[in-house]
Amino acid sequence: MVLKDIATCVVRWQQACGRNDLPWQNTRDPYRIWLSEIMLQQTQVVTVRDYFSRFLQRFPDVATLAAAPLDDVLALWSGLGYYSRARNLHRCATLVMNLHGGAFPKSAAVLQTLPGIGRSTAGAIAALCFGERVAILDGNVRRVLTRVLGFDADLSITAHQQALWEQASLLLPKRDLRNTMPRYTQGLMDLGASLCSARKPACTECPLAMVCVASKLGQPERYPVKTRKLKRSAQSLWLLWAQNRDGNIWLGKRPVPGVWAGLYCFPLFDSRDALDAAIPDNGHSKSHDLPPFVHVLTHKDLHLHPVQVQLTKSDVNWEPGSWIAADAWPDLGLPAPVRKLLGRHWLADLAVPGAVSR
Ligand code: ADE
Repeated sequence: MVLKDIATCVVRWQQACGRNDLPWQNTRDPYRIWLSEIMLQQTQVVTVRDYFSRFLQRFPDVATLAAAPLDDVLALWSGLGYYSRARNLHRCATLVMNLHGGAFPKSAAVLQTLPGIGRSTAGAIAALCFGERVAILDGNVRRVLTRVLGFDADLSITAHQQALWEQASLLLPKRDLRNTMPRYTQGLMDLGASLCSARKPACTECPLAMVCVASKLGQPERYPVKTRKLKRSAQSLWLLWAQNRDGNIWLGKRPVPGVWAGLYCFPLFDSRDALDAAIPDNGHSKSHDLPPFVHVLTHKDLHLHPVQVQLTKSDVNWEPGSWIAADAWPDLGLPAPVRKLLGRHWLADLAVPGAVSR
């Protein structure tokens, strides 16, 4: 087999062994494919399935999504993480309505001008919906192609990334693009998600083993090469879970930009002292420390310290925010750890043993 046969091989393998019954497949509807590609950017297929169908039920088309309040979109996105995706999704829907007459652009070049749609996502949408002859290069596909090509240049350097995009474009199918491009694109993603895994790839089962340089060298795990590592940081935050006598909780919208921008959250503090200072000092409030835990974001670990406080008076002034009834918070856009906390400890009696009286 030579390099020019790769496309044919991937297309055949996808048809026989790839994923062909995902909820966003067997359609060329750009709205569905766009929605799925955005959800799949940082989230696994198993998680996206449920979110995708709930989203489609509530927002069946781009016009409904554009007309909805951003808060409703964030609420349905709650738990998927990377909330800038939801904000961009909503902005993108309004632009499709206002600038493109309600129809998604039909080329990767124009799709890429919309918020939240980068080069690879634009390529995926254009290839899957319209059969455009255009490459994709998400994390999984980058792994497949660097291995097949034996591409060992450092991808933390932009010029090398550019070179890989060019190589990826040379491998694309040349015939019957309306049928082959969707299969080829999906096939590369499927290979990356199955046989061509980061660790212990199943080269013996791979349709590309005969041409794969990395497999022939016996060191597929060495690819892709990327030297510059993301610097991670850590941050500690104290969460003030305040409840008033009516059982309402205080939640406020997080500022943009910042962690959990646009989502509803407990007031956050950088230290326990700062949290304590915010509690009205009338001598009757009770506070109770819940177990601290770590929530992992892409660039940092958040060390979260939730503190439940039962207030005897409701006249607090934590900006921004308001008292939210017990039956209203489940419908709000909440960060996943806050939703989990509320679900897990909602009925916990604040006067539990060990609670500290203030
Ligand atoms: N990841 C990104 N796009 C995908 C798709 N269309 N199918 C499965 N996984 C994906």
